[in-house]
Amino acid sequence: MGIGKDGVLPWKLPGDLKFFKEFTLITSDPVKKNAVIMGRKTWESIPVKSRPLPGRLNVILTRSGTFDFATVENVVICASMESALKLLASTPYCLSIEKVFVIGGGQVLREYLKGPACEAIHLTDIQSSIECDTFIPPVDFSVFQPWYSSFPVIESNIRHSFVSFVRVRKSVAETHESNGKESTEVDTKNDKFEKENFSFLPKMVYDRHEEYQYLNLVEDIIRSGAQKNDRTGTGTLSKFGCQMRFNLRKKFPLMTT
Ligand SMILES: NC(=O)c1ccc[n+]([C@@H]2O[C@H](COP(=O)([O-])OP(=O)(O)OC[C@H]3O[C@@H](n4cnc5c(N)ncnc54)[C@H](OP(=O)(O)O)[C@@H]3O)[C@@H](O)[C@H]2O)c1
Repeated sequence: MGIGKDGVLPWKLPGDLKFFKEFTLITSDPVKKNAVIMGRKTWESIPVKSRPLPGRLNVILTRSGTFDFATVENVVICASMESALKLLASTPYCLSIEKVFVIGGGQVLREYLKGPACEAIHLTDIQSSIECDTFIPPVDFSVFQPWYSSFPVIESNIRHSFVSFVRVRKSVAETHESNGKESTEVDTKNDKFEKENFSFLPKMVYDRHEEYQYLNLVEDIIRSGAQKNDRTGTGTLSKFGCQMRFNLRKKFPLMTT
């Protein structure tokens, strides 16, 4: 879960930067734009010529009163995450901002990922060992479930894929609660992973939901697969000719059954 080294990104992946740009820039309403919230150190890590990130409202978090970027167009300074979210939810921003992305760095994400406001996590899963000094906590699978994972891409000898997780429960406490009682209609709905509940996701992720294809396939096999005996006596259910575009099972323990 490393994300930074010496105040900058630990890797050079132009494809990742392009993906990040497209992801945070695109809106479904062409009149609106998205906001990106970041810590002061992340702001400083962006090359001067590239900041503020164009086409997005750049919200910088700092507790220092001396920070002087409020006069730059497309930049807003806030003293806390709470005040940033409040500001974006009030006029005029609530009318002009479509989605809010919290883009780092470590300090900001360590705090934000614990809270209930984070609806989805989109990360680039770097499958190489690269030294880092800034980290975020691992995804909490009791609260988030995988939605989508791209094919692995190799660039600069670094294998990586783009992965999205969605919040299916408010908190870990709610997970314990629902484990302790009989499942309700709402739990069942969550566990069933109803796609329309996540229509807030950026279109480029919402439409590529392979995970959902996988779950549908499993459901279909359970419902109408051909039953066969095997030498262990457990039995198997099978279906001939089904195709998946890629294999998620290796990545997500959820898939191993
Ligand atoms: N891999 C990625 O996708 C990614 C993304 C972003 C950043 N990064 C990397 O992460 C590293 C930077 O992360 P970092 O953890 O050192 O710093 P950071 O989170 O970017 O910024 C920390 C600063 O933000 C301000 N801050 C943090 N939480 C705040 C809050 N709740 N309210 C108000 N202000 C708050 C404080 O600024 P003041 O000190 O001014 O008060 C704090 O010193 C860099 O290496 C960067 O390249 C990686």
